[in-house]
Amino acid sequence: MQIPSSSSSSSIFFSFVYVDESVQKITITSVVVVVLLVVLLQWRLHRKKQRRKLPPGSMGWPYIGETLRLYTENPNSFFTTRQNKYGEIFKTHILGCPCVMISSPEAARMVLVSKAHMFKPTYPPSKERMIGPEALFFHQGPYHSTLKRLVQSSFLPSALRPTVSHIERLVLQILSSWKSQKSINTLEHMKRYAFDVAIMSAFGDKQEPTEIKAIKLLYQRLEKGYNSMPLDLPGTLFHKSMKARRELSEELRRVIEKRREGRIEGGLLGVLLGAKDQKRNGLSDSQIADNIIGVIFAATDTTASVLTWLLKYLHDHPDLLQEVSMEQVGIRQKIREENRGISWEDTRKMPLTTRVIQETLRAASVLSFTFREAVQDVEYKGYLIPKGWKVLPLFRRIHHSPDFFPEPEKFDPSRFEVAPKPYTFMPFGNGVHSCPGSELAKLEMLILLHHLTTSFS
Ligand code: HEM
Repeated sequence: MQIPSSSSSSSIFFSFVYVDESVQKITITSVVVVVLLVVLLQWRLHRKKQRRKLPPGSMGWPYIGETLRLYTENPNSFFTTRQNKYGEIFKTHILGCPCVMISSPEAARMVLVSKAHMFKPTYPPSKERMIGPEALFFHQGPYHSTLKRLVQSSFLPSALRPTVSHIERLVLQILSSWKSQKSINTLEHMKRYAFDVAIMSAFGDKQEPTEIKAIKLLYQRLEKGYNSMPLDLPGTLFHKSMKARRELSEELRRVIEKRREGRIEGGLLGVLLGAKDQKRNGLSDSQIADNIIGVIFAATDTTASVLTWLLKYLHDHPDLLQEVSMEQVGIRQKIREENRGISWEDTRKMPLTTRVIQETLRAASVLSFTFREAVQDVEYKGYLIPKGWKVLPLFRRIHHSPDFFPEPEKFDPSRFEVAPKPYTFMPFGNGVHSCPGSELAKLEMLILLHHLTTSFS
């Protein structure tokens, strides 16, 4: 028995333990073997990480990356050139961020669905301030799923069915205003229509007229700054927009207060006010306000742009317009005979018009891509997507790939006679953040087309 010498490396472990010399030798050998194994393992892990390479592509100039190229080139050719050169996944650097662009259904599925928890939604901070930081699309996890369930419940077919007559009333209003005009700005009018539908969906059809009028005006002041430079100085567009946002919150608070007193129900606002979690806690006023503004924001420009493209494609394809008109005239005759307004069931009997809408969503792809950020290092097909990098699923590239849509530049609704392959057609996104308003948007388009094709030439 001996006390190990204090100079030996093992002394740290054994200095107060009396052990037999042979046992001591075995123990020291085991420790050395374990330490070596750990070092070897760490070295192998490090080597493996080093071997995982970044996707191909150019990061452009220091700081500015390829931002200038994106803004000076046609965005379509920016993406196409790189996809042709590097393949379905490539890296670049735009708007101050390192990015990975992905353009295959498989990669889109990975980011939006199968590994969605590894990618969080990301927006410019100025957008978050304007819309409201508590709006659902800025969140992941339990808060997002609670709100998503509530918003979705407001836009399910069962909830939309009773709104058909209100949407029809808005269509007739907008179309009757065209009768006295020689020409109209289509996008402007489609925006007005989509905005009115969004307001009706948010507040219901029994609205408080004075407050809603004020909310509409304030929202219109707010949205003027959506694409402005985020410079919060007196006189700038952004500053004016933020001022409107604060006033809008106050006005919404007044409406919320009135509704909490139980005077008026309905719309998404009614659903959000009635929400309770397991502890019977409801949503706060600011959570409700941010989500109302968020839904109006998400519902307006998107739908208006698709509607504008829809009219343009029909205008450019007179034979198709003729066929769509014939389908709608058949339905109009039945509605006239029964002396009623258009119904939800009528909108389910418009197969050709529905395919024209699908083809418009594909061809125009108004949301060309979306943004995510990797919350951890992610490996995809041997490539490393580093934590903190932005990831952009390029919907438009997938929708315009000849592999999934032959002759992609041709406007051909008949291609939708067969259902597209999974993850090749995502005009409303996919996975946890997919669009809850897709059915409403399509309904708006069907009702507008019905009246437009049957009462205008
Ligand atoms: C044709 C019109 C529309 C198009 C093309 C469209 C497209 C999209 C897409 C692609 C996304 C997913 C974005 C992402 O994954 O990052 C989305 C999300 C969303 N859309 Fe739409 N949308 C339309 C109309 C509407 C309407 C009418 C509403 C109103 C209810 C709406 C409400 C939303 C909301 C609230 C989200 C966020 C969902 C979440 O983060 O969970 N959208 N939309």
